[in-house]
Amino acid sequence: MYNHLLSSGKIGQLELRNRIVMTPMGSNLSEANGHCSERIQAYYEARAEGGAGMLIVGVASIAWPVGACNPNQVAISSDAFLPGLCELASRIQRHGCRAAIQLQHAGKVAVCDIAAGRPMLVPSIPDKSRDEMSAALTSVEMSAFVKSYQKKGAKAEYKVADCDDIRDLIERFSEAAERARRAGFDGVELHAGHGYILSEFLSPSINRRDDEYGGCLENRARLLVEVIEAVKIRVGNDFPVWCRIDAQEYKIEGGICLADAVATAALAEAAGADAIHVSAYANPSSGAAFTEAPLVHRSGGYLSFAATIKARLRIPVIAVGRIEPDVAEQVLARGDADFIAMGRKLLADPQLPNKLMRGQQETIRPCIYCYTCVSRIFVNEHVHCAVNARTGYEHEIVLSPALQSRHVLVVGGGPAGMETARVAALRGHRVTLVEQRTDLGGTVFFSSIVYPENGKLIDYLAGQIRQLGVDIRLSTTADVKCLRLLAPDVVVVATGARRDTLSIPGAEQPHVFSGDQLRAVMTGSNPAAVRDKLAGWQVALLSLAVSLGVTKNAHWLRRLSHLWMPVGKRVSIVGGGLVGLELAEFLLQRGREVTVVEAGEKFGTELAIVRRWRLLEDLKQLGAVLINRTDVSCIKAKSLALLCDGDEAEVQTDTVILASGATGDVSLADLSHSCGYETHVAGDCNGIGYIDGAIHSGHAVARSL
Ligand SMILES: Cc1cc2nc3c(=O)[nH]c(=O)nc-3n(C[C@H](O)[C@H](O)[C@H](O)COP(=O)(O)O)c2cc1C
Repeated sequence: MYNHLLSSGKIGQLELRNRIVMTPMGSNLSEANGHCSERIQAYYEARAEGGAGMLIVGVASIAWPVGACNPNQVAISSDAFLPGLCELASRIQRHGCRAAIQLQHAGKVAVCDIAAGRPMLVPSIPDKSRDEMSAALTSVEMSAFVKSYQKKGAKAEYKVADCDDIRDLIERFSEAAERARRAGFDGVELHAGHGYILSEFLSPSINRRDDEYGGCLENRARLLVEVIEAVKIRVGNDFPVWCRIDAQEYKIEGGICLADAVATAALAEAAGADAIHVSAYANPSSGAAFTEAPLVHRSGGYLSFAATIKARLRIPVIAVGRIEPDVAEQVLARGDADFIAMGRKLLADPQLPNKLMRGQQETIRPCIYCYTCVSRIFVNEHVHCAVNARTGYEHEIVLSPALQSRHVLVVGGGPAGMETARVAALRGHRVTLVEQRTDLGGTVFFSSIVYPENGKLIDYLAGQIRQLGVDIRLSTTADVKCLRLLAPDVVVVATGARRDTLSIPGAEQPHVFSGDQLRAVMTGSNPAAVRDKLAGWQVALLSLAVSLGVTKNAHWLRRLSHLWMPVGKRVSIVGGGLVGLELAEFLLQRGREVTVVEAGEKFGTELAIVRRWRLLEDLKQLGAVLINRTDVSCIKAKSLALLCDGDEAEVQTDTVILASGATGDVSLADLSHSCGYETHVAGDCNGIGYIDGAIHSGHAVARSL
C-alpha cells in the first residue's frame, strides 16, 4: 500500500531506506551545558529503531550559548560537544537510519541572550509586537515561560548585524556543518525558517536593511546563499546540505509569501543546496497562530506549497505538516514531493514506519494533536507526549517482562484502564478488564464527539488490548461479589472522576444538566438519569437511537447533533476548564449562543498551552462570551445570577450545563483494599489528569506490577 513512502530515495549522494524523515524537533533533552547525553540519545535511538529513513536532530546551536533559544538545546559550537554528538549519530545509524542535524541561530528569539544580558543579533531592529500569548497563561506557566529571562532587570536588546557579524555567522554555520560531518552525521539542515536568524534576513517584514543583505529578494537571500556556499566548500560536495524555509509567513504584514519562497528555493539550489524542506511560520505574538504554522492543525496544510516549490526545482523537496501516511503516499505518487517529514506522529509512535512496513497500520498509536509536546518546550521543560508515556523518558522507562505473571484485574475501560491493561498484558500478566458501561472509552468517548482526534486513541487502545488477549467484560460492575468471583492477584482501579452536582440554588431544575446528565442524553447510556430533562417524544427518539446503535458511534452523534440536541438556543456553561471550553466550541458550531462562566482567573488551564491558545481564539471567532472571576449565585428559570467582585449581574439562558466539580474518587480502591486485595489506582480517580494523566499513570502502574 505504501510503495512510494517505503521506497528508498536519495538526497545528494545520500541514500535513505525510505521516504519518511523525522522532522527536526527541539526536545530540550540535552544537558544544560549543551552536551548530548544518554537521555537525548535514547530518545532519538527509539525513533531510529522505529524504521524512519532519516532523523533530523532539532535546533543545534551554532554559537551556543549565544543565539540559543532553549536552556537545554543541543550545542554544536565547539569540539567539546563532539563526544555526545558522535554517540548520538552512531546510535541513530546503528539501526540503518540516517542521521542529520539542523543548524540554527535563533536571532531575535534567542532568549538565552536576554537571560545573559547579551543583545540579540538581528538584521534590523524589530517592531514591538503585541503580546496576545501571555494573557492565556497561568502565573506558574508565565514564570516558567520567562525563566530564561530571569536575570534582574533583563530585557530584550538587539544588535543589528554588521559585516563582521555576518562573516562570523557564515563562519559559524560552516564550522558547525563540518563538525557535524566529523561527528559522523550524514547531512545537515540549515534552519532558514521559523523566525530564526536566516529567515529574519529572508523576511521583508523584519529585514529593513538598505545594504546588499536587504531590499530585493536576491539581497535578502544573500546570507542564506553565502552560508550554503561556505558550508559546501567546507564539507565537500558529497556531504548533503539542505535548508528548511518558510513558504508563507501567516498573519505577518509584509511577510514571506509563496513567490518569495519559490525564488529563495531556486537561489538555494543554485548555491548548492541538495534539497529544500518546505515549512511555514506565523506571527509569534498570537499563540493561536502557532497552530497554523509551524505546527499546522489542518491536515496536509502545506502540501500545495511543497508542490509549487518542487515544480521549480531539480533537487528533492521534503514536505511537512500533519501528513497522514495515506496522503503521503499520494503526494509522492503524484510527484509533489520527494520525502515526507513527520514530527508529532513519531512522538506518539516511533514505530510508525515499521508498522507501515509490516502492514499493521491499524496498530499505530495516533497523535491526538493536543500540543502537549510543544507546550512543554514553551515552559522550558523537555518534550513529553500525552499518548506515549515513553517519549522523552526512553532512558528511564523500559518495559521488561514481569518477574512473575499475575492475574491483574483492571476496573474501568477509559484510557487509564486500557493503557494499564495494555502494558500489563505486554509484560506477561493475565489481564481482565471490567467496565460498567456497554462500551470502552469512558468519558473520552463523549469527548471524542466534541474533539474527534480523541476517538482514534480509544480505537487504538481497544484494538491493542483485544489483540493482546485481555479478557474484556463490558456491562460489569466491580463490586465485592465480582472481585471475589474473579479472584485477581492485584486490582487496578481506573474508574475515573466523580462529578458531584454543584450546590448552586436552582441546579435541580429540568433545564440544568450536569456533565454526566448531558453525556447520558447524548449517548443514551443512562436514560433514567435524564427522564425529567426530556419531553416524551425526546425520550422515544433517544430510545430509537440507542436501539439503532447510533449512540455508540461518535461520528453519527457528531452529525446528528447538528439536527437535534437537548439544549436551547442560549446555553450557559458553568466552568471554563477543558471540558467547558470544548463543549462551548461544540455548541457554538451547532448554532447555540454560549456564555462560559468561570470562577477562576484563567480559562482552560488543564489544556496544553498551545491547544488552549487555539481553542480560546476559535471561541472568540465563534462569538463565545467568556466571563472569568465570577461565581454563579443562583440558577433561575431563564437566567443565571452572577456575582463578580461583589457586583451582581444576570445572563439570560435557556439551558445551563455544569461543567466543573470533577474530583478524584478512590472509594472502589478503598473497598478493594479493605477486601484484602493489592490495589492500585490510575487515571482521574486519583486526581484529574485527563488523557495525559490517564496514559502516564496507567503506564506507570502497569510497570510497577
Ligand atoms: C515538540 C516540537 C518541537 C519542534 N521543534 C522544531 C525545531 O527545533 N526546528 C524546526 O524546524 N521545527 C520544529 N518543530 C516543527 C516540526 O519540525 C514540524 O515542522 C511540525 O511539527 C509539523 O510537522 P508534524 O505535523 O508532522 O508534527 C517542532 C515541533 C514540535 C512538535
